[in-house]
Amino acid sequence: MEENQAMSETPPVVALAEEVQRAIAAHSTKKEASAILTRSRELGLISDWDLWMGHVTEKPFDFACLVVAVAHILPPGGSIETGVFRGGTSALLIQCATPETFHVAIDPFGLPSQSCAPTHGYELWAPARTTIARLAALSEHNSVTFCPYVMGAREFIRADLLQHPAPFRIVHLDGEHSNEGVTEELQYFRRKLRGPAVIIIDDHDEHSPGVASALDSPAANGLVPILHRFYLYPTVERPFGFSAWLHPAAS
Ligand SMILES: C[S@@+](CC[C@H](N)C(=O)[O-])C[C@H]1O[C@@H](n2cnc3c(N)ncnc32)[C@H](O)[C@@H]1O
Repeated sequence: MEENQAMSETPPVVALAEEVQRAIAAHSTKKEASAILTRSRELGLISDWDLWMGHVTEKPFDFACLVVAVAHILPPGGSIETGVFRGGTSALLIQCATPETFHVAIDPFGLPSQSCAPTHGYELWAPARTTIARLAALSEHNSVTFCPYVMGAREFIRADLLQHPAPFRIVHLDGEHSNEGVTEELQYFRRKLRGPAVIIIDDHDEHSPGVASALDSPAANGLVPILHRFYLYPTVERPFGFSAWLHPAAS
């Protein structure tokens, strides 16, 4: 009987993922999420979802609820982001990071390792330097050490630059969306994580099939799903989406 009970117990990593799911839905989380979103926008740190998908305000709000929930449930830590753009998601991550940790922000902007089509202005230096300056000021205010890496994620990985002496609990992948790119990022960042962490994958939808392929590969083994949400954009037929996964602590 005891043995059967033990076998039917929820594994700790699944229980932790369920705890994050409950925290996302809490009224206090939503209140806090609204506050950090408002602050980010007041500082001019905006997401591409704000810029191009003005009708889809649920996405930035859902992202904010997720990172607030993670900050309440997971052990202390900082965050890593590939794909910064105008700082809208970095600003939320910085506001949820534990003081005296790091926010690592990787984006090549106008360098040759830029992997997105030159249609969104990702490569422009004037808004890039404004974003970096604003994120640095916000981080200083929140006692988080802001580490901008102006390079592609693959260059960062090849040079093995993640050597920071504090834990990370959120990794947001929103840079290169190819199968190879996301697979490499998953492999590298997961190898570096020590404690449990939440991995957020943007563009997990039919528009970016490479993202789903990477999540189907061994690089994603052992990840426990937390959420996968979709949002319809008025002028685009198929919805855009993002997902979040719990990476278990290293054993
Ligand atoms: C979709 S935007 C990021 C949006 C941002 N996370 C947000 O929600 O507002 C994609 C970003 O990926 C960056 N990027 C392009 N190639 C990259 C690469 N190889 N590694 C990391 N970031 C890259 C682009 O410069 C762009 O800023």
